[in-house]
Amino acid sequence: MMPDSVLDLDAVSIAFNGNLALDGLSLRLQPGEVYALLGPNGAGKTTTLNLILGFLSPDRGSITIDGIDGVANPIGARTRIAYLPETVMLHPALTAIENLEYFALLAGRRIDAGTARGLLADAGLQGEAHDRRAAGFSKGMRQKVGVAIALAKDARLLLLDEPTSGLDAGAANDLSQVIRAASARGIAVLMATHDLFRVKHVAHRLGILRGGVLVDERDAATIGPVELEQLYLEKLAA
Ligand SMILES: Nc1ncnc2c1ncn2[C@@H]1O[C@H](COP(=O)(O)OP(=O)(O)OP(=O)(O)O)[C@@H](O)[C@H]1O
Ligand SMILES: [Mg+2]
Repeated sequence: MMPDSVLDLDAVSIAFNGNLALDGLSLRLQPGEVYALLGPNGAGKTTTLNLILGFLSPDRGSITIDGIDGVANPIGARTRIAYLPETVMLHPALTAIENLEYFALLAGRRIDAGTARGLLADAGLQGEAHDRRAAGFSKGMRQKVGVAIALAKDARLLLLDEPTSGLDAGAANDLSQVIRAASARGIAVLMATHDLFRVKHVAHRLGILRGGVLVDERDAATIGPVELEQLYLEKLAA
């Protein structure tokens, strides 16, 4: 692998009950790169994220995260990864600041309230929410706290699974900004998404997964939104 890549999947395959969910998937992300994994239901997007997180083990191939072998050492590799699930779980009784301090501590980082405030601001959470209990937080606000946790943890790789599903346009736009901010700090971002409309504004590279095979990959800058939708439909029909 290239020495500076944050994520390197090489010819990864995994089957469930004899059915291949991923078939020879290779992916490489450089620091700060934002990669969007597109594909229909069942294409293998979440499986890819679960493999990177070490929750699944590949039948074949290798997974390297920031130089760490993710198959041999999933716990070590996970220290370099922040994961935003569809619903970021926060402690409802704790404020945003307290949640951040708590989850940072779980990741082995002790941060003070001032640092927490700065990270929440960097993640785009409005100041008036910093001292509010998380119980009333919207999905978008939870994600911002999730990103702040990723920043506190000093993760090298941020994984997001369908982050814009269920977000209104404003919150989805906020999330794009937050992803760009993480990218500007050198964090590589891999997101699984169905959002063809928004993906071009945030991703540097797009990959289309179908039946566990990467059937297309290209620079986001080289394709317009209408072309992307056409390409996507073509690739699914092919
Ligand atoms: N733990 C599991 N046990 C058995 N089969 C699984 C398991 N996880 C995933 N699969 C199968 O692997 C394939 C890929 O599923 P995956 O969840 O990765 O798709 P996806 O691209 O995330 O789809 P969606 O867009 O619906 O979230 C599917 O056929 C799914 O049924
Ligand atoms: Mg999925």
